[in-house]
Amino acid sequence: MLIDIIAGARPNFIKIAPIIAAIEVRSRTGVDIHYRLVHTGQHYDKKMSGDFFEQLNIPAPHYNLEVGSGTQAEQAGKIMIGYERLLLEKPCDLCIVVGDVTSTMACAIAAKKVNNIKVAHVEGGIRSGDWTMPEEINRIVTDAITDYFFTTSTIANKNLSKAGVAYDRIFFVGNTMIDTLYKQMPRFQRPVFWDKYNLEEKGYIVMTLHRPNNVDDAATLRELVTEIVSASQGLPVIFPVHPRTAKILEATGVDAPNLYAIDPLGYLEFNYLVKNARAVITDSGGITEEATVMGVPCMTLRNSTERPETCTVGTNELLGTDPKGIAPAFEKLFSGQWKKGSIPELWDGKTAERIIAHIAEIFSLPKL
Ligand code: UD1
Ligand code: UDP
Repeated sequence: MLIDIIAGARPNFIKIAPIIAAIEVRSRTGVDIHYRLVHTGQHYDKKMSGDFFEQLNIPAPHYNLEVGSGTQAEQAGKIMIGYERLLLEKPCDLCIVVGDVTSTMACAIAAKKVNNIKVAHVEGGIRSGDWTMPEEINRIVTDAITDYFFTTSTIANKNLSKAGVAYDRIFFVGNTMIDTLYKQMPRFQRPVFWDKYNLEEKGYIVMTLHRPNNVDDAATLRELVTEIVSASQGLPVIFPVHPRTAKILEATGVDAPNLYAIDPLGYLEFNYLVKNARAVITDSGGITEEATVMGVPCMTLRNSTERPETCTVGTNELLGTDPKGIAPAFEKLFSGQWKKGSIPELWDGKTAERIIAHIAEIFSLPKL
């Protein structure tokens, strides 16, 4: 069988790496399972794309749709057109989409509309309930037309079940982002600026911000960053700046002696930093999961999360988006009151193997 694997934006690359590896393992045993890696080109900077292929040993994509940046509809439209063209030339038997970015939704739609190709959604079923986030719309639309759901939590199973999805199409398998985390942990790299910035284990904060609600307005971004650098009691705040945020950050003119705004980091350097940080402050989804697994206190600048287990089981806490929530959270951290957390069920590094085992069964391929 031929499986298309879709990836477009930074978190996708981390999620597909173990799925490709698991397919390759089966394929080497002579099982008729092959893949075609389709990069939509939603993210294209080396620091948002190419570096992840290199560091995670992901093979070069078979196709790059090169859609680039644009509005939600422009990007979705270009991705659908490009992927449909490819499917019309050579269809696949199954299209695997991961996560909740525009590429996820657009490729799922194109696949279903070209001859009702089966769609599998890795990380299906999660919901924040916040329809102002483009990701929530992507999740709802994708899940409405997905055939097979591979979920990261039992809460996701319940969300799907409530939406009328039959249990025999839902597979609770764990988290492929965590497969990559465990696999790469021995290879984490101390960033080159570690000594230059006088960093010490548990002696700095890692910050990332890229949600439109937090970063698209310069005054909002300035207020958040100013509050964080002031609440962190002089600890260095290492801020790898997402390209979306970079343009606006410059306009804010925000600066402080303990603020280190740097380019986005490679996966191995970034997670070295997170693992050794005193805490992470972020609005990312994936980083709350990684911080949970590494037991690092995590503060999330959002009002909701589609990953509630990072709060109920893990080290994550939602601070909301009002800067007033930041100082009390840092006080809690510095007084040693932050919760310890544990690791969510099935986040054990073996998720991709389980996904491919289920797919083999669904498509009647020989067992390993
Ligand atoms: C996207 C996802 C978001 C995800 C994030 C991961 C959607 C709707 N959003 O947000 O869910 O958390 O990726 O990082 O799919 N840009 C560059 N270089 C790049 C990529 C982007 O400069 O390689 C700049 C462009 O100015 C672009 C902006 O970043 O307009 C936003 O990029 P886009 O892919 O639209 O959304 P993200 O904010 O990256
Ligand atoms: N990440 C990285 N370098 C950075 C920032 C993030 O390697 O400078 C990784 C991080 O470890 C995680 C993923 O990117 O695996 C999260 O992506 P992002 O926050 O862009 O997207 P989200 O998860 O919010 O959709």
